[in-house]
Amino acid sequence: MSLANKNILLGVSGGIAAYKTPDLVRKLTALGANVRVVLTGSATEFVSPLSLQAVSGNPVHQHLLDPSAEAAMGHIELAKWADALLIAPATANIMAKLAHGLADDLLTTLYLATEANVFIAPAMNQQMWKATATQVNLGILTQHGTLFIGPASGEQACGDVGSGRMVEPVDIATTLSQALSSSSEQILAGKHILITAGPTREPLDPVRYISNHSSGKMGFAIADMAIKAGAKVTLIAGPVALPTPEGCKRIDVSTADEMLAACEQASSDSDIFIATAAVADYKAVQVAENKIKKIGDELTLTFVKNPDILATIAMRTDRPFCVGFAAESQDVESYARGKLKNKKLDMIAANDITAPGLGFNSENNALHVIWEDGDKHLPATTKSELAKALLVLIANQYTNTHSVQ
Ligand code: PMT
Repeated sequence: MSLANKNILLGVSGGIAAYKTPDLVRKLTALGANVRVVLTGSATEFVSPLSLQAVSGNPVHQHLLDPSAEAAMGHIELAKWADALLIAPATANIMAKLAHGLADDLLTTLYLATEANVFIAPAMNQQMWKATATQVNLGILTQHGTLFIGPASGEQACGDVGSGRMVEPVDIATTLSQALSSSSEQILAGKHILITAGPTREPLDPVRYISNHSSGKMGFAIADMAIKAGAKVTLIAGPVALPTPEGCKRIDVSTADEMLAACEQASSDSDIFIATAAVADYKAVQVAENKIKKIGDELTLTFVKNPDILATIAMRTDRPFCVGFAAESQDVESYARGKLKNKKLDMIAANDITAPGLGFNSENNALHVIWEDGDKHLPATTKSELAKALLVLIANQYTNTHSVQ
């Protein structure tokens, strides 16, 4: 992890989490970053410019129309100086202003004036985060190319529990360093990675099937990032409407049986297997030859268990490094740990699918990645950014386990 020589412009808006920003500056500078801080008017109610000046070692910028600050480093110069603009904490108000292009203070002006990547770590009451207006603004900002770090879930300063806490400074700094690390870092060079993505489709008759809402976006993002990290990738895709990431070998399948057959063939020379697919657990005992007719008020169908693709590959003696995914709506960590153990996996990435805007068929996701002797929360961000961070963890663990043998 490094932010060596990166210029980070930290914008602080007026939320209670602003008291954590001196620690955030310390975490960023510890990774080698040069940090300059911009405070909005209300942020000064929560954190003092003097403390941020002391920890960053640079004057703190507060006003758009301050002749002495402009003479030292004008706002356009500041916008050009930044390799990244990080806004933490970002309140609902600042998100709304940024989404709609308002530029009535220094921070909002810098957002428009910079060409640097922008990262936003939201912090607000859980109901404010869930509010339609905030979610619409989140969508607009994501379309601008802004990357979100969090928010995290948990107990809030107001006593509520839910999504809206600012991600901890150490995790913001790590996410930023992963995002800014060049994708030309070939951390998976020479490795063959097998990835499953999307749903499976289990037929009932010639016109009907059972399936689920997986879009394949998570698995395709991992395939894309793995190629950029130097890997050779085979992507086994269920029925999805996504373009093939450049440079990867794609095999389209429909049912769990077909996915298993394709994986068994491709896994023989794979180093790492990442199973993001939402495989149907059951299939019809018998697929009707003709369309099932509407007779009577009830219909009973009998299902039988599908093969477990991941467990089948993971139980082999010549198995690749196996990474599972677990989408859960309750007891997320304990169910994920159960799957890690029962399927004999090296790592599992748990999704809490109750969080709004994350998981199935969305642009963003958050993961709790767990392995035998460690775990890491990867805060909510785009599936591409998340894929990058996940691949760093996988590459580290793969190297650790393979250098010990
Ligand atoms: O595709 P997206 O819209 O981007 O959404 C991504 C996702 C939410 C589908 C993905 O991030 C995710 O969580 N995938 C796992 C879904 C799930 O709940 O899997 P599971 O708990 O049923 O299975 C656990 C693991 O075993 C998974 O890695 C799965 O691929 C694998 N499995 C499960 C059943 C089976 N028969 N064969 C398998 O290989």
